[in-house]
Amino acid sequence: MSSNQTDVVFFDENGLRTDQRKPDEIRPMKIKIGVLSRANGSCYLEWGANKILAAVYGPREAHPRRIQLANRAVIRYRYNMQSFSVEDRARPGPSRRSSEISKVSREAFEPVLFPEDYPKAAIDIFVEVLQADAGTRTAAINAASLALVDAGIPMRGLVSACAAGKVDGKIVLDLNKPEDNYGDADLPIAMTEDGKITLIQMDGHLTPSEFEEAMDLVQKGCRQVLEIQKAALLEKFASVMDDDDEEV
Ligand code: CDP
Repeated sequence: MSSNQTDVVFFDENGLRTDQRKPDEIRPMKIKIGVLSRANGSCYLEWGANKILAAVYGPREAHPRRIQLANRAVIRYRYNMQSFSVEDRARPGPSRRSSEISKVSREAFEPVLFPEDYPKAAIDIFVEVLQADAGTRTAAINAASLALVDAGIPMRGLVSACAAGKVDGKIVLDLNKPEDNYGDADLPIAMTEDGKITLIQMDGHLTPSEFEEAMDLVQKGCRQVLEIQKAALLEKFASVMDDDDEEV
């Protein structure tokens, strides 16, 4: 057994984590696509104890008109944490944290979208964190990616996100709450299907070799997430695809 100054025991005698995961294992993920009837696309996603709802609208005429761009669509991404989603009530409305997460998440999607095909339009992505348990920005990106597909918005491919980090001197995948709170580093990334990194942030300290190890691991995590996203899409749209086959 080992612990750091906070007395949190991060690994048991078998090297398993506080939630019995191996260092390179992600938390279980559950996905339901198309849960809202008003939105053009939506997705409900659970990752460990995180619960996220994503809704996508557009491409639709951008309002207010002054934000319209003559040669492309504006992409808006709003990450919001519900007051009841965390242990201490989160103050409602935008915060520095939520504005930052919204900005970097929007940028994570720009390379896979085709905004130049929709002048004066808006593509709106809303994500609501209903229950938070570390890794909400990555969980939200995974849900938003599927809501965009559900909305039928053309994309070069899916975006998948995951975090790696360092706890008690070890590099681990997909930090849980105690690991996020009391660990030494957190490295969330988002990645396209062809391996391009569209978001990278880092909290804490890693040596260059630890950073390389964490980058290797977190990209493997994104690929695992991608497989889960693809399976969820297949489950949702397999019957539609079968119908199409019959029509041919
Ligand atoms: O959620 P994520 O890891 O992307 O972002 P963070 O800023 O590293 O926050 C880590 C975790 O701290 C969140 O997932 C929440 O569980 C918690 N948190 C909180 O309890 N209250 C806040 N105002 C913000 C975060």
